[in-house]
Amino acid sequence: MPDVSPLRIGIAGTSFMGRAHSNAWLQAPRFFDLPRTIELRAACGRDRTAAEDFARRWGWQSVETDWRALVARDDVDVIDVCVPQALHAPVAIAAARAGKHVFCEKPLALNRADAEAMLAAVQQAGVRHVVNHNYRRVPAIQLAKRLIDEGRIGRIFHWRATYQQDWIIDPEFPLTWHLQREHAGSGPHGDLNSHSIDLAHFLVGRIETVSCLTARFIGERPLPGAGAATFSAGTGTATAARGAVTVEDAALLHVQFADGAVGSFEATRFAAGRKNRNRFEIYGSEGSLAFDLERMNELEFYSRSDPEHARGFRTILVTEACHPYIGRWWPPGHTIGYEHTFVHAVADFVTAVHTGAAVHPDFSDGLRVIAVLEAALESAASGRRITVPPVHSPSGGST
Ligand SMILES: NC(=O)c1ccc[n+]([C@@H]2O[C@H](COP(=O)([O-])OP(=O)(O)OC[C@H]3O[C@@H](n4cnc5c(N)ncnc54)[C@H](O)[C@@H]3O)[C@@H](O)[C@H]2O)c1
Repeated sequence: MPDVSPLRIGIAGTSFMGRAHSNAWLQAPRFFDLPRTIELRAACGRDRTAAEDFARRWGWQSVETDWRALVARDDVDVIDVCVPQALHAPVAIAAARAGKHVFCEKPLALNRADAEAMLAAVQQAGVRHVVNHNYRRVPAIQLAKRLIDEGRIGRIFHWRATYQQDWIIDPEFPLTWHLQREHAGSGPHGDLNSHSIDLAHFLVGRIETVSCLTARFIGERPLPGAGAATFSAGTGTATAARGAVTVEDAALLHVQFADGAVGSFEATRFAAGRKNRNRFEIYGSEGSLAFDLERMNELEFYSRSDPEHARGFRTILVTEACHPYIGRWWPPGHTIGYEHTFVHAVADFVTAVHTGAAVHPDFSDGLRVIAVLEAALESAASGRRITVPPVHSPSGGST
């Protein structure tokens, strides 16, 4: 008999992703026919008052202030990991060992060793696992995948991805965890290129070799909350306490795919005016595709099989009921947004927990992304082109 009891969720992290995921857990059963109801059992944040405020606003039934206590609870079935990268491995591994399914934010881990340990832990425990490269679940990107699978793009020659933001361009932006290697692993490379690499794996295929160039534009930043100034005897001026930035500020990659296509990736948080410009272009023997997250309901498509006199890029408004996920939302033309991708991910995950089927991108997909990220950083450090080492799955096989 399939288990139809409520699926009880525990979430670690109560800020940006904590909010996006809470919204998704609430919305998914309202818009999708899920096989299990959802209970928001416990939210974990380090500060009890802030965690209680968060729990009240989003409907979590209780709070914890230590993720170990959250993971140990026997009234929780799923651990949702919304904390900085350095905590993904400890929380996810402990959760798997406690028999919980794991829904984990991206990038999967700080490094390849942690990612492999996470994959081994979920496979040994036999629990469902997902890494939230949520852009796979944008309907326009699902449509891109369908057009590629239908052969409408033909043999792919080129992949071109840019992921640009500008939120740390001010040199006085504080030294948050995102700018410290021990918490984040890397800068926009892990944060943004990870999304683009996952999309390239999804849409084009396996990446075989990589060359990478990184740059750091700002070496020191004020410590968070460093309102208190320190006095510099040398200059006689007061300056806020500062710390070293230990990640890159931009990362540019050139890659070769296993099937011979070539590609480029660019990730930066220093592109003034670009807020979350996650864009890719695909050029093939039969046609081309282009997508931009800032216009996420649209897909640009050029087909060489159109009559010659009528050829040109067309913009498909991906809001018809025949498009993936959209039929669950609004009538055609009533567009959806960023938060909907999280709802789609949660809906697919709950179904997978119920059926026991795999759901992608899972931890093995996340590990493949980490393998490319890590090879790229090795390339940046050595100045050499690096072959991405194959990923061996603990359950056998390698890619
Ligand atoms: N999929 C996406 O589109 C997307 C977008 C942004 C961030 N992310 C990923 O989500 C994760 C979280 O990022 P964010 O933007 O929400 O960061 P954030 O700084 O907004 O939130 C991090 C949260 O973790 C909590 N935290 C830190 N250490 C903790 C500990 N020891 N115990 C319990 N809680 C702790 C913080 O209090 C905070 O609530 C990161 O891995 C990031 O890469 C994904």
